[in-house]
Amino acid sequence: MPALNQITCVEDFRRLARRRVPRMFYDYMDSGSWTESTYRANEADLQALKFRQRVAVDIARRSLRARLLGEDVAMPLALAPTGLTGMQRADGEILAARAAERFGVPFTLSTMSICSIEDVAARTSRPFWFQLYVMRDREFIGRLIDRARAARCSALMVTLDLQVMGQRHKDIRNGLSTPPRPTLANLANLALKPQWCLEMLRTPRRAFGNIVGHAKGVADMRSLASWTAEQFDATLNWSDLAWIKERWGGKLIVKGIMDAQDARRAVDAGADALVVSNHGGRQLDGAPSSIAALPAIAQAVGGRIEVWMDGGVRSGQDTLRALALGARGVLIGRAFLYALAARGEAGVLRCLEILANELDVTMAFCGRTRIQDVDRRVLVNPEAAC
Ligand code: GLV
Repeated sequence: MPALNQITCVEDFRRLARRRVPRMFYDYMDSGSWTESTYRANEADLQALKFRQRVAVDIARRSLRARLLGEDVAMPLALAPTGLTGMQRADGEILAARAAERFGVPFTLSTMSICSIEDVAARTSRPFWFQLYVMRDREFIGRLIDRARAARCSALMVTLDLQVMGQRHKDIRNGLSTPPRPTLANLANLALKPQWCLEMLRTPRRAFGNIVGHAKGVADMRSLASWTAEQFDATLNWSDLAWIKERWGGKLIVKGIMDAQDARRAVDAGADALVVSNHGGRQLDGAPSSIAALPAIAQAVGGRIEVWMDGGVRSGQDTLRALALGARGVLIGRAFLYALAARGEAGVLRCLEILANELDVTMAFCGRTRIQDVDRRVLVNPEAAC
């Protein structure tokens, strides 16, 4: 097992995670929908953007500090909401939130997390963000919003791109449904992951903590299965955002925007920030990459609210590319999940250090010393992503 300081990039963590996590959960994290073309494009289109090196600029004093929604952050990045994080590693949401707090960036807890809002709040002191899926049971959603407020969450992130599910072939093959119906091959695979199994057996947190025992009629995994199957709400529309905003009463982020017209709707709906996102290539396969969609959306918003981006960010260089094309910050999903699966809290912290270092040094090569001074001129081919 390599020492933490021998792990030097996100790809190292990915390889370690793959070895440690049972196949059905690893595949769930590391796949896209249908042909996975959007999932691949997210990374490839970022890579296509080339930096403009500048020399003989005084770059001795540099800072990555920034503000996201009025919060001071150590770099312009937050941990994205990711479903089933506590299945990549026991108590995963708590561990990732603690690492984010230690580094000084926001953590977002998913509705579909294993650790509950209250569990994460009790084990962290920095307020985190809560991600909301809008379900048909609006009473449950209302209570979830109240719970997030009671836990002192500092922003609510409403995901708008999961009214229907993009089909993920690997999940179907692996029997990853609720409750899971693992194949014999998956069960045999568990035998190869003894450390993961041991830690899972030791924690009491093995079901969807925000839902089981909270939604009407959901007391166990079996009742959760039928509840989840019918709950994602296909009727969700912009008018729903009004009552969510009113019930919440705090900072509101909308996630899943891929179109300039939708971005304007988000501004009109009173969002404080939006996330340009194709759900990590897990929903509409064949959609453009997030980085390709970003410039037109940033232009449509015209600075009225903050525009962030997720999808394909695997390095500090990718963060800089997104900032150059108009993002105020980025969210990382898989990058931190690999690190969490591989090494827990210390792994996520190390991952954040790696990303910060890559961002800092790349910014320096481009002759910039502050995040606020980054613009499209740090790229030689800013049009390449679109
Ligand atoms: C949930 O957010 C998923 O993408 O599986």
